[in-house]
Amino acid sequence: MSPGLLRRLERQDPTAREPAPVVETAPPVAAAGRAPSTRETQPDQPERPRTVGEIIRHVQNRVLSGHAELLAASRHSAEERQRLKAVIARMLVEENLVVRRLTRDALSEQLVSEIVGYGPIDQYIRDPAVTEVMVNGPGRVYVERKGRLERVEAGFRDHDHLHDLITRVVAPLGRRLDQASPFVDARLPDGSRVNAVIAPLSLVGPVLTVRKFPERAMTLEDLVGLGALNQEMAGFLEAAVRARLNVIISGGAGAGKTTLLNALAGAIPGPCERIITIEDSAELKLPQEHVVSLESRPANTEGRGEVTIRQLLRNALRMRPDRLIIGECRGGEAFELLQAMNSGHNGSFSTVHANSATDALARVENMVLMAGEELPHRAIIDQIRSAADLVVHVERYADGGRRLSQIGLVDKEAGPDVSRDRVDLRAVFRFNVTGVTGEGSVDGCFEACPAVAPGWLSAKFRAAGEPMPPPLANETDRRGAGAG
Ligand SMILES: Nc1ncnc2c1ncn2[C@@H]1O[C@H](COP(=O)(O)OP(=O)(O)OP(=O)(O)O)[C@@H](O)[C@H]1O
Ligand SMILES: [Mg+2]
Repeated sequence: MSPGLLRRLERQDPTAREPAPVVETAPPVAAAGRAPSTRETQPDQPERPRTVGEIIRHVQNRVLSGHAELLAASRHSAEERQRLKAVIARMLVEENLVVRRLTRDALSEQLVSEIVGYGPIDQYIRDPAVTEVMVNGPGRVYVERKGRLERVEAGFRDHDHLHDLITRVVAPLGRRLDQASPFVDARLPDGSRVNAVIAPLSLVGPVLTVRKFPERAMTLEDLVGLGALNQEMAGFLEAAVRARLNVIISGGAGAGKTTLLNALAGAIPGPCERIITIEDSAELKLPQEHVVSLESRPANTEGRGEVTIRQLLRNALRMRPDRLIIGECRGGEAFELLQAMNSGHNGSFSTVHANSATDALARVENMVLMAGEELPHRAIIDQIRSAADLVVHVERYADGGRRLSQIGLVDKEAGPDVSRDRVDLRAVFRFNVTGVTGEGSVDGCFEACPAVAPGWLSAKFRAAGEPMPPPLANETDRRGAGAG
C-alpha cells in the first residue's frame, strides 16, 4: 500500500454522490434478477458495509467463517497469502464492495494486510531493510533502517484500529492487553520481539515496538563487515571464546548487545560443549546443535506462574552445562551468574545494560547487592573480580553505526595499587572518535593496546591450548623475543 493511501481513504466519504468508483461494480450473487445499483439499499438485507473499517470487519468475518485454514496458512506462506488475496478479491466483486479511488487489487491487498498482516505497517514489517518498527499512537510511525531512525507516512485510523492490531498479534501467543495488564512483551513465532503499552501507562495512545528477527544471525565476520569491530578484534574475541573466558557484554538499549552475544556464542567450538541459553524472550539463534534454550515466563493475570531468569539459572546449574549464556542480567540472577562463573562454568556470557564497560561492573555489583544474599561489599567485589574476565562494551553512535567501543580485561592481580572497593579494567582495544563528517558519519579508528598478558590470562590460554592473541603477549614470549 502506498504511504498516503490510508489517509486518502480516511478522507473520503463513501456515501458521497460522486460517480465512478475505480472498482467495477457487479451484481451481488445473492440478489437474483435485476442488479441493484451500488447506492440502492435492500430493505430485507443487512446493510452493506460502507467505511473501510466496516469492510475490513465484514471481510474478516467472512474469511474466518469460510476460509479459516487458508487464513492460517497465509500467515506463513507468500503463496497462500496470494490465494487469500484472490478469494478476497472475489468476495469484493460478489458483494459489490467498493472504496472510491482504490482499485480492487489495492483494496484486496489492503484487506489481506489488515487480516493476516500488520495493517498500515505491514509493508515495513515485510521490508528486509527495516530492522525495527515503532508506532507511537495511531498517527506516528518510525522505522529503523541501517541503524537510523526515520518517520514514515503510515498511520492507523484511530486508537481502536491500532489496539485491534496489537490484540490480534499478541492473542495467539496467549497474551492479552487491557486495563488489567496494560503492557506486554512477547516473541512472535518468527522470533521477532513485540512490545506494546496502552493507556493509562501510555499517554500517546497504544504504543507498539517490533524488533524484527534477522533472517540470519550475524556472525563476528558480518559485524567486521559492518564496521562494528576490526579483524584483529574479532580474532581476539574468537580466541577468548575458545580459551573459555567469562565475558560480559555491556551497552545501552538497542546498542547491539544481543547481536554481539549471539556472534560470540556462535564462535563456541561445537559439538562437544553443552550450551544452555536463558532469556526473557528467546532471541539467540546458535549454529551449534547441542543447545538447550530456556525462556522465562511472566506471571499470569492472577499474578501466578512467573518463572524468573534467576530460577531458570539455578535450575540450569543442575543440567550439566558447559557454557551458560544469559540473554540479559538485570537482577538477582547476577549472584548465581558469578557463582557459576567462579565454579567450573568458565566460558559463560551475559549482557548488562550500562553506559560504559566500567559501569557494567558497577551494575553487576548493585545487582548482587539487590539479590538479598547479604554478602559483604568486599566479598562481592572479590567475586566479580575473579568471575568476570572480559567486558566488551558496544555503543550505538550518532550515525546509527554500532561499534565495540571498548574491550577491557578485568584487573585481577592484587597489587598494592589495586583498589579494594571497585573492579578495574584494562583496555585491550578501544574505539577513538576523531570527528563527525558533514553527512553525519562518525570518523574514528579502533586502537589496540599492546601489553603483556597477566599471569591468570596466560594460564587460561595455556590450559585451552590456545596461543595468546595480539595485541597481548605472554611474558615468556616477550622474554624469548628479547633474548632472540
Ligand atoms: N553492528 C551492527 N550494525 C548494524 N545493525 C546492528 C548491529 N548490531 C545490532 N544491530 C541491529 O540493531 C538492533 C538492536 O540490536 P540488539 O537487539 O542486538 O540490541 P540490544 O542492545 O540487545 O537491545 P536491547 O537493549 O533492546 O536488548 C537490531 O535490529 C540489530 O539487528
Ligand atoms: Mg538485547
